[in-house]
Amino acid sequence: MKKNLAIVGLQYGDEGKGKIVDILSERYDVVARYQGGHNAGHTVIIGGKRHVLHLVPSGIFHPNTKCVIGSGVVLDPLALIEETQAIEKTGSHVKDRLFVSNRCHIILPYHRVQEAAIELQLGERRIGTTSRGIGPAYEDKMGRRGLRMCDLMDASTLREKIRQRVEEKNRLLAALKYPQTIDPEPICDAYSAYADQIRGFVIDTSHYLNQQIRAGKSILFEGAQATLLDIDHGSYPFVTSSSAAAGGAATGLGIGPKHIHQVLGITKAYLTRVGSGPCPTEALDARGDELRNRGVEFGSTTGRPRRCGWFDGPAAKYAASINSVDSIVVTKLDVLDTFKEIPFCVDYKYKGSLLNEFPADAEILAKVEPAYKQIRGWNTSIAATREWSKLPQAAQDYLKFLSDYLETPIAMVSTGSDRDETIHM
Ligand code: GDP
Ligand code: IMO
Ligand code: MG
Repeated sequence: MKKNLAIVGLQYGDEGKGKIVDILSERYDVVARYQGGHNAGHTVIIGGKRHVLHLVPSGIFHPNTKCVIGSGVVLDPLALIEETQAIEKTGSHVKDRLFVSNRCHIILPYHRVQEAAIELQLGERRIGTTSRGIGPAYEDKMGRRGLRMCDLMDASTLREKIRQRVEEKNRLLAALKYPQTIDPEPICDAYSAYADQIRGFVIDTSHYLNQQIRAGKSILFEGAQATLLDIDHGSYPFVTSSSAAAGGAATGLGIGPKHIHQVLGITKAYLTRVGSGPCPTEALDARGDELRNRGVEFGSTTGRPRRCGWFDGPAAKYAASINSVDSIVVTKLDVLDTFKEIPFCVDYKYKGSLLNEFPADAEILAKVEPAYKQIRGWNTSIAATREWSKLPQAAQDYLKFLSDYLETPIAMVSTGSDRDETIHM
């Protein structure tokens, strides 16, 4: 039996999960997204053509792979409609291949308004969210006042439920002194129409996945965001609102944890972060700009410049342990081609002492001093290298150091954005 595999980000997102899920999904029967929403931006490049997926699993470009959006995802119906239409235009098909959970919570327009109001109120302390309504949708889920896909599918009660929720939100906006009220009627009309457009995708995905498991089919669990943005284990409060770490796959899909057989952690050879929050290894000098320019580090969802810096060892070690990763994929090694020396953070110091644990308090994380080991660069292009033996010795040494540091074997190295620009170990 083939083992089910969870793929998770070990940093602050954008590690290149989309590329790796796309490559590996050919070998799996089903690819399932378990959390997040259209805050994710997963880039898949096939034959030079760029596709950015936000909601649909990155397995959609393999015709024999089924794709599932599980109940742990918060779903904006319009985003799903637009994305499925864009996929159809590429010649890939979604009909009878994409399944959406009837328990998914729905993002409504008032979630985005609520998010804008809260971010405005936070001022300097704002999270720097993707403005997709993700946080407020999860708040409503946990507050037990959310609307789910099964509500969207029930035309007889949908209007009444939306009107009731909008009334509550208008009271909240008034309390926040936010100069906007929401009219429920256009939302009712739009969401009734969306319901008809997506009805064909909606099923009990937990039932479906468990059936697939019983039939001996293999499943790839696709994480969005990443461990350091996980609601429980990330750099709280500068996190997203879902369980991005591997454990989230069980709750977010309604399968037992024993069906997650292996965990693959994805990390860049350096580090990026979008939005606010501590980032100890951020390079605020010209080398940070060099990383951004070489790595084209601009958000796939919002287009914001990503903050760039060096590989953060303590953070990656912590993330590897949270997920119990079996092996890792190191991406974007080619971006480091031009550096004579590459700083690699091996320890955090706080108030003069070494920290033994990844700090829970974001204020401490913001103040730690990274201790760097300088690793010799290779100063030659490794772009598109497909074999380990063709990598320069210094590049092999960098990867060996990283792997030894994390005490985890490397399964793949990515040397470019295309499917083929990959070393399989
Ligand atoms: P995800 O959110 O983890 O799926 O990652 P994103 O797609 O948001 O960001 C990763 C970016 O890096 C995308 O633009 C990819 O096309 C690109 N990328 C992935 N792997 C490599 C690589 O090895 N080298 C280079 N230069 N770019 C890569
Ligand atoms: P992928 O799946 C990078 C960040 C936002 C913000 C914080 C909270 O492409 O790796 P949210 O809108 O989720 O409430 O924002 O999380 N963020 C991401 N950063 N990659 C992502 O997804 C992200 N999704 C959210 O920038 O700091
Ligand atoms: Mg991304």
